[in-house]
Amino acid sequence: MPKIIAILNATGNQGSGLIRAFLSPNSSQKNDYKVRALTRNITSPAAQELQSSYGPSQLELVQADVYDVESLRKAFKDVDGVFAATNNRLPGKKIETEDEMRHELVAGRNIVDAARGCDVSHMVLSSLPNINRASNGRFSKVFHFDHKNTIEEYAKKELKAVTVLWPGLYYSNVAWPQYCRKLEDGIVRFCAPASGDVRADWVDAAHDIGVFAAAIFTKGPTAIGNKTYPVVSPKICFSDLARIFESKTGKKAIFDPISLDEWGSTVAAAAGKGYEEDIRQMMEWIGVAPGEKVCYGTMERGEDRSWEELGVRASTFEEWLERSGWRGPE
Ligand SMILES: NC(=O)c1ccc[n+]([C@@H]2O[C@H](COP(=O)([O-])OP(=O)(O)OC[C@H]3O[C@@H](n4cnc5c(N)ncnc54)[C@H](OP(=O)(O)O)[C@@H]3O)[C@@H](O)[C@H]2O)c1
Repeated sequence: MPKIIAILNATGNQGSGLIRAFLSPNSSQKNDYKVRALTRNITSPAAQELQSSYGPSQLELVQADVYDVESLRKAFKDVDGVFAATNNRLPGKKIETEDEMRHELVAGRNIVDAARGCDVSHMVLSSLPNINRASNGRFSKVFHFDHKNTIEEYAKKELKAVTVLWPGLYYSNVAWPQYCRKLEDGIVRFCAPASGDVRADWVDAAHDIGVFAAAIFTKGPTAIGNKTYPVVSPKICFSDLARIFESKTGKKAIFDPISLDEWGSTVAAAAGKGYEEDIRQMMEWIGVAPGEKVCYGTMERGEDRSWEELGVRASTFEEWLERSGWRGPE
């Protein structure tokens, strides 16, 4: 019998990647799993596209809302596993105060409580490291990391087996205006608020997280139940984004950092004022985090056992450019 896996963020980057890893025509696992794709709205274009891509025998759409624990309980009934990711953003709404960021904790608690109520035997949880702890209290407002880490601790305490993924920065972020702009002369300007020689860990979120999570479900909870795997490619410098982009696309590109103030206000304009200090502190930490450690400077390189234990690795920027077809801002 195929195993049933309930997948949150099914219409988003992370969940859709796991669905593809399980069910795409060239997947070796496509007969081993059935997907229960959770969405707030099963009639949305994104949900309907999933349904038509994989068909009802492989994928069932189920309505669930992470702020409605009862809907999660129904969605997790009789599943063999749950892939869970939480969101710091609220769709269609700006976060105006730092306190509002706590909605992610509510969602995480609901997910874990519902999974415990349904006796879920294995959860793969997309989380992030605790930056307050890693920075010895210097950066205490990186809520979208620390809240995930709090959810992770709660999940490990409450559930039978929780395997944790810590994704790097999304390559797809570079398509956002705070990371990349086209100048009037046509030059593509990569512009994070960090010096060009700062190295960071990146990921093809819509691909790599799915590949990692599929490998984890296949290994099962007994083998790797309570481990944590960073989903990060070998670190690259911020200036490498421009260098690699130019060599791949033939388009002239430079790295030209912006100030933290400009960065914070661009993000706040899009996501809300309550998120501004969070995203500023995240970048400040990336600028000073120990370069020899992986995953936002929080893990010794040798602690990353994903290749040895799962046989998977995260994509390079070159691979993401190829896969996504992104050719810079218009
Ligand atoms: N950007 C980065 O560099 C980066 C790096 C590491 C981690 N992250 C983390 O990644 C997370 C975002 O994950 P993603 O990229 O997969 O998301 P995404 O592509 O933005 O999609 C959001 C997903 O959340 C679902 N969703 C929204 N509200 C919901 C609710 N109330 N109940 C149930 N589902 C809901 C949406 O489903 P429906 O619309 O179908 O309901 C959609 O599938 C964030 O927490 C972020 O912190 C980001």
